Amino acid sequence: MQAGPTQADRTGAPSPAGHGPAQPLGALASGPLSGRLRPPGDKSISHRALILGLLAKGRTIIGGLLEGDDVLRTAAACGALGARVERLGPGHWQVDGCGIGSLLAPKEILDFGNAGTGTRLMMGLVGGHPITATFDGDASLRKRPMRRILDPLSLMGVQIVSQAEGGRCPITITGSAEPAPIEYRTPVPSAQLKSAILLAGLNSPGRTVVIETEASRDHTEKMLAYFGARISSVPDGPHGRRITLEGRPELKARDVIVPADPSSGSFALVAALIVPGSDVTIEGMMMNPLRIGLITTLLEMGADIQLLNARIEGGEDVADLRVRYSALKGVDVPAARAPAMIDEYPVLAVAAAFASGETRMNGLSELRVKESDRLAAVSAGLEATGISHRIEGDDLIVVGAPTVRGGGMVATHLDHRIAMSFLVLGMASQQSVHVDDAAMIATSYPSFRAQMEALGATFVD
Ligand code: S3P
Repeated sequence: MQAGPTQADRTGAPSPAGHGPAQPLGALASGPLSGRLRPPGDKSISHRALILGLLAKGRTIIGGLLEGDDVLRTAAACGALGARVERLGPGHWQVDGCGIGSLLAPKEILDFGNAGTGTRLMMGLVGGHPITATFDGDASLRKRPMRRILDPLSLMGVQIVSQAEGGRCPITITGSAEPAPIEYRTPVPSAQLKSAILLAGLNSPGRTVVIETEASRDHTEKMLAYFGARISSVPDGPHGRRITLEGRPELKARDVIVPADPSSGSFALVAALIVPGSDVTIEGMMMNPLRIGLITTLLEMGADIQLLNARIEGGEDVADLRVRYSALKGVDVPAARAPAMIDEYPVLAVAAAFASGETRMNGLSELRVKESDRLAAVSAGLEATGISHRIEGDDLIVVGAPTVRGGGMVATHLDHRIAMSFLVLGMASQQSVHVDDAAMIATSYPSFRAQMEALGATFVD
C-alpha cells in the first residue's frame, strides 16, 4: 500500500521506496579502512524538523535533512496534513506550515513504511486535532506496539476508531479539538512516546507534563523551544526528567541545520575499531549527551577515539571523531545507559565480538520491540557467524576473541540496523558475512554502502 502522490514527489524528491524483492548483500574481509566521511543527517531530528515545519506558521528551511525512506514518509504525511513540502536540492527542503489547530484531514491512509518514529510522532500530532487518520506500514511496523501511544492519547480525549489485534497498525484515530492537559509518567523510556504526548499537548488549552524515569533523547523538547514553545525540562530522580509544555503556543518557522546522525556514524566507528590498521575520521557527529552511550562504552572498552573540533551546529553539540583500530576489552554496560544508545546495541555486539573477555549489556527489553525483535535477531546473527554469546533475562553477554570466524547468512527481519551491523562484522572477520536483505538500509542510511566503500570496504551482491 502506498500513499498517493505528495508535494514532495512532485518536486523531484526521491520517493519512499517501499519494500520490493529482498536484496541480499555480503561484506568481505577488508584491508585497513581509511579516510573521512560525514554520515547523513540525524533521523530523529529530520522527522522533527518536518513536523515542526508543518506546525509553524511561515516557511521553515531545513539543511542536511536525511533523505532516507523513513523521513520521506514523514515528509509525505506532512503534505497530506496540509503543509506544502518542497525539496530545493539534496538535503535542502522547505516546509510552509499551517499552524497548530489547522491541520487538514488526510485523504489517504498515512503509510509510514518501516518507520516507528514517524508513525508515533504523527499519531500524537493527529491526536491533538479534530481530524481522523489511518496509520499503517510494512510487516515490521504492523508488529510494533502502539498501545503505549494510544493509552496516553485516550486520556487526552483521542478516539480509537479501529486497531489491529493488540493495539497494532493499521490504526485509525480521531483526534480531539481540545486535548485534555495530562500529567503522564511514561512506563518505558521512549522518546517516541514522550514526543507523541508533547505533540498532542501542543493544541491543549492547558499544560502537558511528561515524567520520564530514565531520560530519553531530547530533540523534541529542544526543537519546540527553538520554534518558540514554552517548554521546560528539569531533573526528576537520579536519571529522569520532568517536561512541562504550555499548550497553544504560536510556533514560528525557523531554519534548521540537521547534524550528522550518531546512530548511522556508529557503523564506520565500529568498523574502524575492529578492522586492523584502520584510521577513519567521522565528521560532524552529533554529540548530544543523550545519544552518545555507544561512544562512552567504546571508550571504556579501550577504543582509540579522539574528539576533534568540538562545536555547536544547529543547536546541538557536534565533533569530528578520529577513530583508529584498537584492541578492545569486554565491559559491563549498565542498564541506565540504554536510552542513550538504544539503537546501537546491534553494532556494539559486533564490537564486543572482537573484544577480549565478556561484554555484558544489561536491560535490553526495549530491543525486543524495535524494527525487529533485535535481541533475538542479534543473537541469531551472532550464532550464524560463530560468536559465543548468551541471553540471560533481558541481558546479552557476548564472549569476544581477537579473531572471529564470520561466514554465514544473517536474517535481517526488515531491520536496517541488523543489516548494517552484520555487514560491519564481515569487514573484520575471517570469512565474508552475508545478510539476506539489505533493502531496509535505505530507511536510515541510503549512502551506507557508498560511504563504506569509499573507506575501503568491499561488498558483494
Ligand atoms: C527515536 C527514539 C527511539 C529510537 C528510534 C528513534 C526518536 O525509540 O529507537 O530509532 O526519534 O524518538 P524509542 O523512543 O521508542 O526508544
